[in-house]
Amino acid sequence: MKRRTQLEEKNSITFEVIRYITLYYFSVAAILTLSQIGLEYFKIKSDIEGQIKEIESSFSESLTNSLWEFNEVQTKAIIDGIAKSPAITYVTVKGVRNETIYGAGNVTEEPKPIFDAAFNPNQIFVYKKKLSKNIGKDNEEEIGQLYIYSGNSVILSQLSHIVVPIIVNSVIKTIFLWMILLLFINNKLKGPLNQFVENISEIDPKNPKPVDLKISKEIKEFDSIQTAFNDLIRQLKNYKDVLEAIVENKTELLKEKNDEVLSLVEKLKSAQSQILKHEKLTSLGILSAGIAHELKNPLNLSQNTSIMIKDLIKENQTMDPAFKSQMDNLLGIAVENQERMNGIIKNMLLQARVQNSEKTELNIKQFIDTNFNILLKSRKKNAHIDVCFENLLADEIKAPVFANDFGRLLLNLFENALHSIEDKSKKSDPSYKGLIKVSGECNSENLVLSFYDNGKGIEKSYLDKIWEPFFTTKPTGSGTGLGLYLTYEIIKQHNGSINIESEEGAYAKIIVELPLEGSSVSEMKDEEKV
Ligand SMILES: Nc1ncnc2c1ncn2[C@@H]1O[C@H](COP(=O)(O)OP(=O)(O)OP(=O)(O)O)[C@@H](O)[C@H]1O
Ligand SMILES: [Mg+2]
Repeated sequence: MKRRTQLEEKNSITFEVIRYITLYYFSVAAILTLSQIGLEYFKIKSDIEGQIKEIESSFSESLTNSLWEFNEVQTKAIIDGIAKSPAITYVTVKGVRNETIYGAGNVTEEPKPIFDAAFNPNQIFVYKKKLSKNIGKDNEEEIGQLYIYSGNSVILSQLSHIVVPIIVNSVIKTIFLWMILLLFINNKLKGPLNQFVENISEIDPKNPKPVDLKISKEIKEFDSIQTAFNDLIRQLKNYKDVLEAIVENKTELLKEKNDEVLSLVEKLKSAQSQILKHEKLTSLGILSAGIAHELKNPLNLSQNTSIMIKDLIKENQTMDPAFKSQMDNLLGIAVENQERMNGIIKNMLLQARVQNSEKTELNIKQFIDTNFNILLKSRKKNAHIDVCFENLLADEIKAPVFANDFGRLLLNLFENALHSIEDKSKKSDPSYKGLIKVSGECNSENLVLSFYDNGKGIEKSYLDKIWEPFFTTKPTGSGTGLGLYLTYEIIKQHNGSINIESEEGAYAKIIVELPLEGSSVSEMKDEEKV
Protein backbone atom coordinates (compact mmCIF):
# COMPACT_ATOMS: atom_id res chain seq x y z
CA MET A 1 0.00 0.00 0.00
CA LYS A 2 2.81 2.33 1.02
CA ARG A 3 4.72 1.42 -2.12
CA ARG A 4 1.66 2.24 -4.23
CA THR A 5 1.31 5.66 -2.60
CA GLN A 6 4.96 6.33 -3.23
CA LEU A 7 4.52 5.31 -6.84
CA GLU A 8 1.46 7.52 -7.21
CA GLU A 9 3.40 10.42 -5.67
CA LYS A 10 6.33 9.71 -7.93
CA ASN A 11 4.21 9.69 -11.08
CA SER A 12 2.02 12.63 -10.05
CA ILE A 13 1.83 15.68 -12.29
CA THR A 14 3.30 17.83 -9.45
CA PHE A 15 6.31 15.57 -9.19
CA GLU A 16 6.80 15.63 -12.95
CA VAL A 17 6.59 19.44 -13.10
CA ILE A 18 9.09 19.84 -10.26
CA ARG A 19 11.40 17.35 -11.94
CA TYR A 20 11.21 19.27 -15.22
CA ILE A 21 11.81 22.61 -13.52
CA THR A 22 14.72 21.21 -11.57
CA LEU A 23 16.19 19.56 -14.61
CA TYR A 24 15.76 22.23 -17.26
CA TYR A 25 15.06 25.54 -15.50
CA PHE A 26 17.83 24.92 -12.96
CA SER A 27 20.33 24.06 -15.67
CA VAL A 28 19.44 27.15 -17.70
CA ALA A 29 19.45 29.31 -14.57
CA ALA A 30 22.86 27.92 -13.59
CA ILE A 31 24.30 28.57 -17.06
CA LEU A 32 22.90 32.10 -17.07
CA THR A 33 24.21 32.78 -13.56
CA LEU A 34 27.65 31.45 -14.51
CA SER A 35 27.66 33.59 -17.66
CA GLN A 36 26.69 36.60 -15.59
CA ILE A 37 29.51 35.85 -13.14
CA GLY A 38 31.90 35.51 -16.13
CA LEU A 39 30.81 38.85 -17.50
CA GLU A 40 31.20 40.44 -14.07
CA TYR A 41 34.69 38.94 -13.87
CA PHE A 42 35.75 40.58 -17.12
CA LYS A 43 34.12 43.85 -16.12
CA ILE A 44 36.01 43.94 -12.80
CA LYS A 45 39.21 43.01 -14.61
CA SER A 46 38.82 45.85 -17.09
CA ASP A 47 37.97 48.22 -14.22
CA ILE A 48 41.20 47.22 -12.46
CA GLU A 49 43.16 47.73 -15.69
CA GLY A 50 41.58 51.18 -16.07
CA GLN A 51 42.50 52.07 -12.47
CA ILE A 52 46.09 50.87 -12.98
CA LYS A 53 46.41 52.89 -16.21
CA GLU A 54 45.14 55.94 -14.36
CA ILE A 55 47.60 55.38 -11.50
CA GLU A 56 50.43 54.93 -13.99
CA SER A 57 49.63 58.16 -15.81
CA SER A 58 49.11 60.09 -12.55
CA PHE A 59 52.24 58.94 -10.73
CA SER A 60 54.78 58.23 -13.50
CA GLU A 61 56.03 61.83 -13.76
CA SER A 62 56.51 62.40 -10.01
CA LEU A 63 58.13 58.97 -9.65
CA THR A 64 60.52 59.73 -12.59
CA ASN A 65 61.51 62.99 -10.97
CA SER A 66 62.09 61.43 -7.55
CA LEU A 67 64.26 58.74 -9.15
CA TRP A 68 66.16 61.36 -11.22
CA GLU A 69 66.88 63.32 -8.09
CA PHE A 70 67.66 60.11 -6.08
CA ASN A 71 65.05 61.17 -3.64
CA GLU A 72 64.60 57.81 -1.99
CA VAL A 73 62.05 59.01 0.58
CA GLN A 74 59.75 60.44 -2.04
CA THR A 75 60.15 57.37 -4.25
CA LYS A 76 59.14 55.07 -1.36
CA ALA A 77 56.23 57.34 -0.45
CA ILE A 78 54.92 57.28 -4.02
CA ILE A 79 55.29 53.45 -4.26
CA ASP A 80 53.60 52.94 -0.84
CA GLY A 81 50.79 55.24 -1.96
CA ILE A 82 50.26 53.29 -5.17
CA ALA A 83 50.41 49.95 -3.26
CA LYS A 84 47.49 51.03 -1.09
CA SER A 85 45.11 50.80 -4.02
CA PRO A 86 42.75 47.75 -3.46
CA ALA A 87 43.18 46.84 -7.11
CA ILE A 88 46.93 46.29 -6.70
CA THR A 89 48.70 43.48 -4.90
CA TYR A 90 52.29 44.65 -5.36
CA VAL A 91 54.25 47.58 -6.85
CA THR A 92 57.95 47.71 -7.60
CA VAL A 93 60.24 50.21 -9.29
CA LYS A 94 63.37 48.93 -11.01
CA GLY A 95 66.47 50.54 -12.40
CA VAL A 96 67.76 50.37 -15.99
CA ARG A 97 69.70 47.20 -15.19
CA ASN A 98 66.51 45.70 -13.86
CA GLU A 99 67.65 45.93 -10.23
CA THR A 100 64.85 46.48 -7.71
CA ILE A 101 64.99 49.94 -6.23
CA TYR A 102 61.90 49.60 -4.02
CA GLY A 103 58.87 47.36 -3.77
CA ALA A 104 55.72 47.41 -1.63
CA GLY A 105 52.33 45.74 -1.49
CA ASN A 106 49.95 43.54 0.49
CA VAL A 107 52.25 40.58 -0.27
CA THR A 108 55.74 40.38 1.12
CA GLU A 109 57.68 39.81 -2.02
CA GLU A 110 57.33 40.42 -5.68
CA PRO A 111 54.95 37.90 -7.20
CA LYS A 112 56.08 35.62 -10.00
CA PRO A 113 53.69 35.76 -12.92
CA ILE A 114 51.92 32.46 -13.71
CA PHE A 115 50.98 31.84 -17.36
CA ASP A 116 48.14 29.38 -17.44
CA ALA A 117 45.77 28.71 -20.32
CA ALA A 118 43.00 27.59 -17.97
CA PHE A 119 41.42 29.78 -15.32
CA ASN A 120 43.60 29.90 -12.26
CA PRO A 121 42.47 31.81 -9.13
CA ASN A 122 46.13 32.58 -8.31
CA GLN A 123 46.94 34.08 -11.69
CA ILE A 124 48.93 37.30 -11.61
CA PHE A 125 48.64 40.19 -14.07
CA VAL A 126 51.71 42.50 -14.52
CA TYR A 127 51.47 46.04 -15.88
CA LYS A 128 54.83 47.49 -16.89
CA LYS A 129 55.51 51.24 -17.42
CA LYS A 130 58.79 52.65 -18.73
CA LEU A 131 60.01 55.66 -16.73
CA SER A 132 62.11 58.13 -18.85
CA LYS A 133 63.32 61.72 -18.42
CA ASN A 134 63.44 64.45 -21.12
CA ILE A 135 66.97 65.64 -21.34
CA GLY A 136 66.80 67.99 -24.30
CA LYS A 137 64.73 68.58 -27.28
CA ASP A 138 63.42 65.27 -28.56
CA ASN A 139 65.82 63.37 -26.31
CA GLU A 140 64.75 61.04 -23.54
CA GLU A 141 66.71 58.90 -21.16
CA GLU A 142 65.35 55.79 -19.56
CA ILE A 143 65.89 55.80 -15.85
CA GLY A 144 63.79 52.82 -14.66
CA GLN A 145 60.62 50.79 -14.88
CA LEU A 146 57.44 50.65 -12.85
CA TYR A 147 55.85 47.17 -12.32
CA ILE A 148 52.32 47.07 -11.01
CA TYR A 149 50.89 43.65 -10.03
CA SER A 150 47.32 42.63 -9.73
CA GLY A 151 45.64 39.20 -10.07
CA ASN A 152 42.56 36.94 -10.00
CA SER A 153 42.58 37.05 -6.19
CA VAL A 154 41.69 40.77 -6.40
CA ILE A 155 39.01 40.18 -9.04
CA LEU A 156 37.53 37.21 -7.10
CA SER A 157 37.38 39.12 -3.84
CA GLN A 158 35.47 41.91 -5.60
CA LEU A 159 33.35 39.34 -7.46
CA SER A 160 32.38 37.63 -4.20
CA HIS A 161 30.38 40.71 -3.26
CA ILE A 162 28.30 40.39 -6.45
CA VAL A 163 28.04 36.56 -6.85
CA VAL A 164 26.09 35.91 -3.61
CA PRO A 165 23.22 38.27 -4.51
CA ILE A 166 23.14 36.83 -8.05
CA ILE A 167 22.79 33.26 -6.71
CA VAL A 168 20.27 34.26 -4.03
CA ASN A 169 18.27 36.10 -6.70
CA SER A 170 18.27 33.07 -8.94
CA VAL A 171 17.25 30.68 -6.10
CA ILE A 172 14.43 33.01 -4.97
CA LYS A 173 13.17 33.22 -8.57
CA THR A 174 13.20 29.43 -8.86
CA ILE A 175 11.36 28.96 -5.56
CA PHE A 176 8.72 31.46 -6.67
CA LEU A 177 8.37 29.71 -9.97
CA TRP A 178 7.90 26.40 -8.15
CA MET A 179 5.27 27.88 -5.87
CA ILE A 180 3.36 29.53 -8.72
CA LEU A 181 3.45 26.34 -10.75
CA LEU A 182 2.37 24.20 -7.78
CA LEU A 183 -0.51 26.59 -7.10
CA PHE A 184 -1.53 26.46 -10.75
CA ILE A 185 -1.26 22.66 -10.91
CA ASN A 186 -3.30 22.20 -7.74
CA ASN A 187 -6.00 24.71 -8.60
CA LYS A 188 -6.25 24.45 -12.34
CA LEU A 189 -5.07 20.94 -13.17
CA LYS A 190 -5.18 18.53 -10.24
CA GLY A 191 -8.56 19.72 -8.91
CA PRO A 192 -10.41 19.46 -12.25
CA LEU A 193 -8.65 16.21 -13.09
CA ASN A 194 -9.69 14.70 -9.74
CA GLN A 195 -13.24 15.96 -10.28
CA PHE A 196 -13.18 14.41 -13.75
CA VAL A 197 -11.94 11.06 -12.39
CA GLU A 198 -14.56 11.21 -9.61
CA ASN A 199 -17.34 11.89 -12.11
CA ILE A 200 -16.17 9.04 -14.34
CA SER A 201 -15.94 6.60 -11.41
CA GLU A 202 -19.48 7.58 -10.33
CA ILE A 203 -20.94 6.86 -13.76
CA ASP A 204 -23.53 4.10 -13.62
CA PRO A 205 -22.66 1.70 -16.48
CA LYS A 206 -26.37 0.80 -16.75
CA ASN A 207 -27.32 4.43 -17.21
CA PRO A 208 -24.28 6.52 -18.22
CA LYS A 209 -24.82 10.27 -17.98
CA PRO A 210 -22.69 13.11 -19.45
CA VAL A 211 -20.33 14.94 -17.00
CA ASP A 212 -20.38 18.71 -16.40
CA LEU A 213 -17.05 20.10 -15.11
CA LYS A 214 -16.86 23.70 -13.88
CA ILE A 215 -13.27 24.08 -15.03
CA SER A 216 -14.15 23.16 -18.58
CA LYS A 217 -15.65 26.63 -18.93
CA GLU A 218 -12.28 28.21 -18.04
CA ILE A 219 -9.78 25.97 -19.79
CA LYS A 220 -10.26 25.12 -23.43
CA GLU A 221 -8.43 21.80 -23.27
CA PHE A 222 -10.69 20.54 -20.47
CA ASP A 223 -13.69 21.65 -22.48
CA SER A 224 -12.41 19.53 -25.39
CA ILE A 225 -11.84 16.54 -23.09
CA GLN A 226 -15.32 16.96 -21.60
CA THR A 227 -16.93 17.23 -25.05
CA ALA A 228 -15.07 14.17 -26.32
CA PHE A 229 -15.94 12.21 -23.18
CA ASN A 230 -19.61 13.19 -23.31
CA ASP A 231 -19.73 12.22 -26.99
CA LEU A 232 -18.35 8.84 -25.99
CA ILE A 233 -20.98 8.48 -23.25
CA ARG A 234 -23.74 9.36 -25.76
CA GLN A 235 -22.41 6.80 -28.23
CA LEU A 236 -22.18 4.26 -25.41
CA LYS A 237 -25.81 4.95 -24.46
CA ASN A 238 -26.95 4.58 -28.06
CA TYR A 239 -24.96 1.40 -28.42
CA LYS A 240 -26.45 0.12 -25.14
CA ASP A 241 -29.99 0.90 -26.36
CA VAL A 242 -29.32 -0.88 -29.65
CA LEU A 243 -27.79 -3.82 -27.80
CA GLU A 244 -30.76 -4.01 -25.44
CA ALA A 245 -33.17 -3.96 -28.37
CA ILE A 246 -31.19 -6.77 -30.04
CA VAL A 247 -31.15 -8.82 -26.83
CA GLU A 248 -34.90 -8.24 -26.35
CA ASN A 249 -35.53 -9.27 -29.93
CA LYS A 250 -33.37 -12.36 -29.58
CA THR A 251 -35.02 -13.25 -26.27
CA GLU A 252 -38.43 -12.94 -27.91
CA LEU A 253 -37.25 -15.14 -30.78
CA LEU A 254 -35.79 -17.62 -28.34
CA LYS A 255 -39.08 -17.65 -26.42
CA GLU A 256 -41.00 -18.27 -29.63
CA LYS A 257 -38.62 -21.07 -30.59
CA ASN A 258 -38.89 -22.46 -27.09
CA ASP A 259 -42.70 -22.42 -27.30
CA GLU A 260 -42.43 -24.08 -30.70
CA VAL A 261 -40.16 -26.75 -29.28
CA LEU A 262 -42.50 -27.25 -26.31
CA SER A 263 -45.51 -27.60 -28.58
CA LEU A 264 -43.54 -30.02 -30.77
CA VAL A 265 -42.63 -32.03 -27.68
CA GLU A 266 -46.32 -32.08 -26.72
CA LYS A 267 -47.28 -33.23 -30.21
CA LEU A 268 -44.56 -35.84 -30.10
CA LYS A 269 -45.82 -37.10 -26.75
CA SER A 270 -49.38 -37.31 -28.03
CA ALA A 271 -48.19 -39.03 -31.23
CA GLN A 272 -46.20 -41.46 -29.12
CA SER A 273 -49.21 -42.27 -26.95
CA GLN A 274 -51.36 -42.63 -30.09
CA ILE A 275 -48.84 -45.08 -31.53
CA LEU A 276 -48.76 -47.02 -28.28
CA LYS A 277 -52.56 -47.05 -28.16
CA HIS A 278 -52.67 -48.11 -31.78
CA GLU A 279 -50.13 -50.89 -31.25
CA LYS A 280 -51.94 -52.11 -28.16
CA LEU A 281 -55.34 -52.09 -29.82
CA THR A 282 -54.05 -53.70 -33.00
CA SER A 283 -52.47 -56.61 -31.15
CA LEU A 284 -55.57 -56.99 -28.97
CA GLY A 285 -57.73 -56.93 -32.08
CA ILE A 286 -55.71 -59.64 -33.80
CA LEU A 287 -55.75 -61.73 -30.65
CA SER A 288 -59.49 -61.35 -30.11
CA ALA A 289 -60.23 -62.13 -33.77
CA GLY A 290 -58.13 -65.31 -33.45
CA ILE A 291 -59.92 -66.34 -30.27
CA ALA A 292 -63.32 -65.58 -31.81
CA HIS A 293 -62.49 -67.70 -34.85
CA GLU A 294 -61.36 -70.61 -32.69
CA LEU A 295 -64.43 -70.36 -30.43
CA LYS A 296 -67.00 -69.99 -33.23
CA ASN A 297 -67.26 -73.72 -34.26
CA PRO A 298 -67.18 -75.30 -30.77
CA LEU A 299 -69.74 -72.71 -29.67
CA ASN A 300 -71.99 -73.50 -32.64
CA LEU A 301 -71.64 -77.20 -31.85
CA SER A 302 -72.46 -76.74 -28.17
CA GLN A 303 -75.39 -74.43 -29.08
CA ASN A 304 -76.77 -77.02 -31.52
CA THR A 305 -76.27 -79.75 -28.93
CA SER A 306 -78.13 -77.69 -26.29
CA ILE A 307 -81.02 -77.16 -28.73
CA MET A 308 -81.06 -80.87 -29.61
CA ILE A 309 -81.10 -81.88 -25.90
CA LYS A 310 -83.88 -79.35 -25.33
CA ASP A 311 -85.90 -80.88 -28.22
CA LEU A 312 -85.23 -84.45 -26.98
CA ILE A 313 -86.39 -83.60 -23.49
CA LYS A 314 -89.45 -81.92 -24.96
CA GLU A 315 -90.33 -85.08 -26.94
CA ASN A 316 -89.68 -87.44 -23.99
CA GLN A 317 -93.06 -88.43 -22.48
CA THR A 318 -91.73 -90.58 -19.67
CA MET A 319 -89.85 -87.86 -17.89
CA ASP A 320 -91.15 -86.29 -14.70
CA PRO A 321 -92.89 -83.03 -15.74
CA ALA A 322 -91.32 -81.04 -12.87
CA PHE A 323 -87.84 -82.25 -13.76
CA LYS A 324 -88.64 -81.71 -17.47
CA SER A 325 -89.58 -78.06 -16.91
CA GLN A 326 -86.50 -77.52 -14.69
CA MET A 327 -84.27 -78.99 -17.43
CA ASP A 328 -86.05 -76.92 -20.06
CA ASN A 329 -85.38 -73.72 -18.08
CA LEU A 330 -81.73 -74.54 -17.56
CA LEU A 331 -81.19 -75.43 -21.20
CA GLY A 332 -83.06 -72.22 -22.16
CA ILE A 333 -80.53 -70.17 -20.10
CA ALA A 334 -77.67 -72.11 -21.75
CA VAL A 335 -79.00 -71.46 -25.27
CA GLU A 336 -79.60 -67.77 -24.49
CA ASN A 337 -76.05 -67.31 -23.25
CA GLN A 338 -74.66 -69.27 -26.16
CA GLU A 339 -76.54 -66.88 -28.45
CA ARG A 340 -75.03 -63.91 -26.66
CA MET A 341 -71.57 -65.43 -27.02
CA ASN A 342 -72.29 -65.91 -30.69
CA GLY A 343 -73.21 -62.20 -30.92
CA ILE A 344 -69.90 -61.21 -29.35
CA ILE A 345 -67.96 -63.49 -31.67
CA LYS A 346 -69.82 -62.05 -34.68
CA ASN A 347 -68.86 -58.53 -33.60
CA MET A 348 -65.26 -59.57 -33.05
CA LEU A 349 -65.07 -61.18 -36.47
CA LEU A 350 -66.74 -58.16 -37.98
CA GLN A 351 -63.97 -55.83 -36.88
CA ALA A 352 -61.35 -58.25 -38.20
CA ARG A 353 -63.04 -58.31 -41.57
CA VAL A 354 -61.01 -56.81 -44.43
CA GLN A 355 -62.81 -53.96 -46.14
CA ASN A 356 -62.94 -54.57 -49.86
CA SER A 357 -65.48 -52.03 -50.97
CA GLU A 358 -64.68 -48.68 -52.52
CA LYS A 359 -65.33 -45.37 -50.78
CA THR A 360 -68.61 -43.70 -51.64
CA GLU A 361 -69.10 -39.96 -51.67
CA LEU A 362 -71.97 -39.33 -49.27
CA ASN A 363 -73.94 -36.34 -48.14
CA ILE A 364 -72.79 -36.50 -44.54
CA LYS A 365 -75.67 -34.61 -42.95
CA GLN A 366 -78.28 -36.82 -44.61
CA PHE A 367 -76.36 -40.00 -43.84
CA ILE A 368 -76.12 -39.07 -40.16
CA ASP A 369 -79.86 -38.24 -39.97
CA THR A 370 -80.77 -41.57 -41.61
CA ASN A 371 -78.61 -43.60 -39.25
CA PHE A 372 -79.91 -41.84 -36.16
CA ASN A 373 -83.51 -42.51 -37.26
CA ILE A 374 -82.75 -46.21 -37.96
CA LEU A 375 -81.30 -46.50 -34.48
CA LEU A 376 -84.28 -44.80 -32.86
CA LYS A 377 -86.70 -47.16 -34.64
CA SER A 378 -84.66 -50.24 -33.69
CA ARG A 379 -84.63 -49.14 -30.05
CA LYS A 380 -88.36 -49.10 -29.46
CA LYS A 381 -87.88 -49.56 -25.77
CA ASN A 382 -86.20 -46.14 -25.67
CA ALA A 383 -89.09 -44.40 -27.31
CA HIS A 384 -90.10 -42.94 -23.99
CA ILE A 385 -86.72 -41.12 -23.61
CA ASP A 386 -87.04 -37.45 -24.24
CA VAL A 387 -84.13 -36.77 -26.58
CA CYS A 388 -83.59 -33.76 -28.76
CA PHE A 389 -81.46 -34.42 -31.83
CA GLU A 390 -79.71 -31.50 -33.54
CA ASN A 391 -77.76 -31.90 -36.72
CA LEU A 392 -75.97 -28.58 -37.31
CA LEU A 393 -73.91 -29.72 -40.26
CA ALA A 394 -74.09 -27.79 -43.50
CA ASP A 395 -76.38 -29.42 -46.07
CA GLU A 396 -73.79 -29.48 -48.82
CA ILE A 397 -70.99 -31.31 -47.00
CA LYS A 398 -69.96 -34.37 -49.00
CA ALA A 399 -67.12 -36.74 -48.25
CA PRO A 400 -65.90 -40.13 -49.49
CA VAL A 401 -66.32 -42.80 -46.79
CA PHE A 402 -66.62 -46.56 -46.52
CA ALA A 403 -70.42 -46.33 -46.23
CA ASN A 404 -71.14 -49.55 -44.28
CA ASP A 405 -68.40 -49.05 -41.76
CA PHE A 406 -69.10 -45.35 -41.38
CA GLY A 407 -72.76 -46.27 -40.72
CA ARG A 408 -71.69 -48.75 -38.02
CA LEU A 409 -69.50 -46.00 -36.52
CA LEU A 410 -72.49 -43.63 -36.32
CA LEU A 411 -74.71 -46.32 -34.78
CA ASN A 412 -72.07 -47.08 -32.13
CA LEU A 413 -71.68 -43.41 -31.17
CA PHE A 414 -75.43 -42.69 -31.08
CA GLU A 415 -76.09 -45.95 -29.22
CA ASN A 416 -73.59 -44.89 -26.54
CA ALA A 417 -75.02 -41.35 -26.36
CA LEU A 418 -78.60 -42.64 -26.02
CA HIS A 419 -77.54 -45.12 -23.36
CA SER A 420 -75.73 -42.40 -21.42
CA ILE A 421 -78.77 -40.05 -21.59
CA GLU A 422 -81.03 -42.92 -20.56
CA ASP A 423 -78.83 -43.65 -17.53
CA LYS A 424 -78.73 -40.01 -16.53
CA SER A 425 -82.48 -39.49 -16.90
CA LYS A 426 -83.08 -42.30 -14.41
CA LYS A 427 -81.15 -40.39 -11.77
CA SER A 428 -81.98 -36.80 -12.77
CA ASP A 429 -85.02 -34.66 -12.00
CA PRO A 430 -87.92 -34.78 -14.49
CA SER A 431 -86.94 -31.47 -16.10
CA TYR A 432 -83.83 -33.12 -17.56
CA LYS A 433 -83.97 -33.32 -21.33
CA GLY A 434 -81.47 -35.30 -23.36
CA LEU A 435 -79.63 -33.63 -26.22
CA ILE A 436 -77.57 -35.11 -29.00
CA LYS A 437 -75.88 -32.57 -31.19
CA VAL A 438 -73.82 -33.15 -34.30
CA SER A 439 -71.71 -30.28 -35.62
CA GLY A 440 -68.61 -29.89 -37.74
CA GLU A 441 -66.99 -28.42 -40.76
CA CYS A 442 -65.28 -29.47 -43.90
CA ASN A 443 -62.39 -27.91 -45.82
CA SER A 444 -60.31 -29.12 -48.71
CA GLU A 445 -58.19 -31.28 -46.40
CA ASN A 446 -60.36 -32.52 -43.55
CA LEU A 447 -63.85 -33.35 -42.43
CA VAL A 448 -64.22 -32.68 -38.73
CA LEU A 449 -67.30 -34.02 -36.94
CA SER A 450 -68.29 -33.52 -33.33
CA PHE A 451 -70.81 -35.78 -31.56
CA TYR A 452 -72.05 -34.17 -28.38
CA ASP A 453 -74.44 -35.54 -25.80
CA ASN A 454 -75.47 -34.16 -22.41
CA GLY A 455 -75.63 -37.61 -20.83
CA LYS A 456 -73.82 -38.87 -17.73
CA GLY A 457 -70.34 -38.24 -19.18
CA ILE A 458 -67.25 -40.37 -18.59
CA GLU A 459 -65.19 -40.79 -15.46
CA LYS A 460 -61.71 -39.27 -15.94
CA SER A 461 -59.88 -42.51 -15.15
CA TYR A 462 -61.86 -44.33 -17.89
CA LEU A 463 -60.91 -41.91 -20.67
CA ASP A 464 -57.88 -43.96 -21.75
CA LYS A 465 -59.57 -47.33 -21.39
CA ILE A 466 -62.78 -46.83 -23.41
CA TRP A 467 -60.97 -47.61 -26.68
CA GLU A 468 -59.87 -51.02 -25.47
CA PRO A 469 -61.96 -53.99 -26.65
CA PHE A 470 -64.33 -55.41 -24.01
CA PHE A 471 -64.13 -52.35 -21.81
CA THR A 472 -67.66 -51.56 -20.72
CA THR A 473 -69.41 -49.95 -17.77
CA LYS A 474 -72.74 -51.44 -18.79
CA PRO A 475 -74.20 -54.16 -16.55
CA THR A 476 -73.17 -57.70 -17.40
CA GLY A 477 -74.96 -58.95 -20.46
CA SER A 478 -75.93 -55.50 -21.71
CA GLY A 479 -72.82 -54.48 -23.63
CA THR A 480 -69.84 -56.17 -25.24
CA GLY A 481 -67.43 -53.22 -24.83
CA LEU A 482 -66.56 -53.51 -28.53
CA GLY A 483 -68.48 -50.43 -29.82
CA LEU A 484 -65.75 -47.81 -29.41
CA TYR A 485 -63.03 -50.30 -30.29
CA LEU A 486 -64.75 -50.96 -33.64
CA THR A 487 -65.30 -47.21 -34.07
CA TYR A 488 -61.60 -46.66 -33.54
CA GLU A 489 -60.74 -49.35 -36.09
CA ILE A 490 -63.10 -47.77 -38.65
CA ILE A 491 -61.48 -44.34 -38.12
CA LYS A 492 -58.08 -45.96 -38.55
CA GLN A 493 -59.34 -47.51 -41.76
CA HIS A 494 -60.16 -43.96 -42.97
CA ASN A 495 -56.68 -42.75 -41.88
CA GLY A 496 -58.43 -40.38 -39.50
CA SER A 497 -58.28 -39.67 -35.79
CA ILE A 498 -60.76 -39.80 -32.95
CA ASN A 499 -60.69 -38.08 -29.57
CA ILE A 500 -62.98 -37.68 -26.63
CA GLU A 501 -63.67 -34.82 -24.26
CA SER A 502 -65.92 -35.27 -21.29
CA GLU A 503 -66.96 -33.96 -17.93
CA GLU A 504 -68.42 -36.57 -15.65
CA GLY A 505 -72.13 -35.95 -15.03
CA ALA A 506 -72.31 -33.22 -17.70
CA TYR A 507 -71.42 -34.23 -21.21
CA ALA A 508 -69.36 -36.32 -23.62
CA LYS A 509 -68.02 -35.06 -26.94
CA ILE A 510 -66.41 -37.30 -29.52
CA ILE A 511 -64.40 -35.52 -32.20
CA VAL A 512 -63.73 -37.35 -35.44
CA GLU A 513 -61.31 -36.03 -38.02
CA LEU A 514 -61.21 -37.62 -41.46
CA PRO A 515 -58.66 -36.63 -44.07
CA LEU A 516 -60.25 -36.08 -47.46
CA GLU A 517 -57.15 -36.82 -49.51
CA GLY A 518 -54.95 -39.90 -49.65
CA SER A 519 -57.48 -42.03 -47.78
CA SER A 520 -57.95 -44.74 -50.35
CA VAL A 521 -58.19 -48.40 -49.33
CA SER A 522 -55.02 -49.38 -51.06
CA GLU A 523 -53.00 -46.78 -49.19
CA MET A 524 -54.37 -47.98 -45.90
CA LYS A 525 -53.45 -51.56 -46.70
CA ASP A 526 -49.89 -50.50 -47.53
CA GLU A 527 -49.68 -48.79 -44.18
CA GLU A 528 -50.95 -51.84 -42.39
CA LYS A 529 -48.34 -53.97 -44.07
CA VAL A 530 -45.67 -51.72 -42.65
N1 LIG B 1 -71.39 -41.01 -25.02
C1 LIG B 1 -70.98 -41.64 -23.93
N2 LIG B 1 -71.32 -41.18 -22.71
C2 LIG B 1 -70.92 -41.81 -21.59
N3 LIG B 1 -70.12 -42.91 -21.59
C3 LIG B 1 -69.76 -43.41 -22.78
C4 LIG B 1 -70.16 -42.81 -24.01
N4 LIG B 1 -69.63 -43.54 -25.02
C5 LIG B 1 -68.93 -44.55 -24.44
N5 LIG B 1 -69.01 -44.49 -23.11
C6 LIG B 1 -68.37 -45.37 -22.13
O1 LIG B 1 -67.45 -46.17 -22.83
C7 LIG B 1 -67.67 -47.53 -22.56
C8 LIG B 1 -67.29 -48.35 -23.77
O2 LIG B 1 -68.15 -48.07 -24.84
P1 LIG B 1 -68.31 -49.12 -25.99
O3 LIG B 1 -69.24 -48.56 -27.00
O4 LIG B 1 -66.99 -49.54 -26.46
O5 LIG B 1 -68.95 -50.33 -25.25
P2 LIG B 1 -70.42 -50.44 -24.63
O6 LIG B 1 -71.25 -49.38 -25.15
O7 LIG B 1 -70.23 -50.52 -23.17
O8 LIG B 1 -70.90 -51.81 -25.17
P3 LIG B 1 -71.55 -52.07 -26.63
O9 LIG B 1 -71.12 -50.99 -27.49
O10 LIG B 1 -71.11 -53.38 -27.04
O11 LIG B 1 -73.03 -52.02 -26.38
C9 LIG B 1 -69.11 -47.57 -22.22
O12 LIG B 1 -69.40 -48.68 -21.40
C10 LIG B 1 -69.32 -46.28 -21.47
O13 LIG B 1 -68.92 -46.40 -20.13
MG1 LIG C 1 -71.35 -48.97 -27.23
